[in-house]
Amino acid sequence: MKVLGIESSCDETAAAVVEDGRVVLSDVVRSQVDLHAKFGGPVPEVASRSHLEVILPVIESALERAGLRPADVDAVAVTHRPGLIGALLVGLSAAKAFALAAGKPLVGVDHIAAHVYASWMDDPVPPRPPFVSLVVSGGHTSLFRHDTPFEPVEIGATADDAAGEAFDKVAAILDLGYPGGPVIDRLAKEGDRTRFPFKPPLLGRERDVIDFSFSGLKTAVLYRVTGRNSKHPPLETTEENVRDMAASFQEAVVEGLVRAAFRAVERTGADDLVIGGGCAANSRLRERFAEEAAERGVRVFLPELSRTTDNAVMIAGLGYHELARRGPDDLTLDAYATGQ
Ligand code: KG4
Ligand code: ZN
Repeated sequence: MKVLGIESSCDETAAAVVEDGRVVLSDVVRSQVDLHAKFGGPVPEVASRSHLEVILPVIESALERAGLRPADVDAVAVTHRPGLIGALLVGLSAAKAFALAAGKPLVGVDHIAAHVYASWMDDPVPPRPPFVSLVVSGGHTSLFRHDTPFEPVEIGATADDAAGEAFDKVAAILDLGYPGGPVIDRLAKEGDRTRFPFKPPLLGRERDVIDFSFSGLKTAVLYRVTGRNSKHPPLETTEENVRDMAASFQEAVVEGLVRAAFRAVERTGADDLVIGGGCAANSRLRERFAEEAAERGVRVFLPELSRTTDNAVMIAGLGYHELARRGPDDLTLDAYATGQ
């Protein structure tokens, strides 16, 4: 069964065709990062307009690369939550028009559940429920328990910023441009991660928590860099200082994520842990999760790098399973800014 997937929840316009949930026939992603860079993050109205301009060519290109006409596709899957509402509506409207014009079933897909699926869809042995997943991206930082493969139940979340947002804001403080994750990751490799000992971004009492808060960490970086509310003078922007700050900040984030995720694994009695989302590309995060998982005898699923950031392969892939599990949606399918 060939599913056309459409994704437009944030600042990537994407379309893909995937067969039977895992064989990728085409994968087209048009990033808007350049458009948003000067604002230091995605601007909702700019995103909607740009999606509108490129959505049809992106879909046409996905069909063309798969060597298919609309009539050859068996269904259309689309991200309908969570995300920027105007951005979501562009993809959803295109998907409905396709479904109506080509006479194909339509299915709405949750973007977060799709990030989780992206991390194991290529693995010959899927995770075994109950398993835990952690989604860390520019818009989301949540932990889920899965009693069945495709129905995540949230068991931990962030009280404020998402992890990726913290990477982006700290990069802005350090004048490193947008998006911040990749550049901090690169600079941190040469930095001293013990030089600025920040507290991991966990919320509440240390032993119990599986909730996150990134605003305190972000402010701690800001104060240390500017010297505001600090016993230290402003940090000189030498290469060494910036590298050490990037490494120390990243270490605190990764440590918080590792502690919370393995705490969730212990609590749910899971053997498997799936990590997804844009920040799952982070090299220190991948290293620490792999180390910790090996030590604890937990199997950890990390996505291929091309599947970490937003794409439509994960939407088409999960759409196939959603159709099998609960059947198609009708044309009244709506878009929602929030998760389920
Ligand atoms: O999943 P994604 O493309 O979009 C959302 O659904 O939000 O994630 C984008 C986020 C950005 O905040 C970016 O800075 C972060 O992922 N990111 C990284 C890395 N690569 C991308 N964060 C840390 N380390 C990286 N290597
Ligand atoms: Zn995403």
